[in-house]
Amino acid sequence: MQRTFLMVKPDGVQRNLIGEIISRFEMKGFTLSGAKIMHISKELAETHYGEHKERPFFGDLVDFITSGPVFAMVWEGDGVISEARKMMGKTNPKEADPGTIRGDFGVQVSMNIIHGSDSEESAKREIDLFFNEDQLISYEKTM
Ligand code: CMP
Repeated sequence: MQRTFLMVKPDGVQRNLIGEIISRFEMKGFTLSGAKIMHISKELAETHYGEHKERPFFGDLVDFITSGPVFAMVWEGDGVISEARKMMGKTNPKEADPGTIRGDFGVQVSMNIIHGSDSEESAKREIDLFFNEDQLISYEKTM
């Protein structure tokens, strides 16, 4: 079964959106495999966002993501990587459709509420960065 890494960013945590976001993915039918609230170190932030190292906003991005607690999650389900991206909406909340998480709750690209892996390769990399395998479970929904 496919897995993805999702993270409620510091702005989403401060605005009490953790429950709303979990609820959306639960109601869609995906399964939560693991979750934790945590502070990200500068080192982890720089590794996680390594592909953006040369971008002008890299320093601000690292400062922001380390500015307060984040809520890191692994979700499981058929097509969860691309479905989660659809549910999050476009990176820039001003361009994100209403009904998406960023479209409903954000206005600034630097504070866009949630991060989600963009491919199978990045999902694996990001899950391994944030979780040990013994912190994740898989289970059947029976009720
Ligand atoms: P995320 O999906 O976490 O991946 C990289 C992040 O960089 C992105 O969400 C944005 O929050 C952030 N970012 C900040 N400034 C910009 C920008 N000008 N263009 C694109 N992304 C930006």
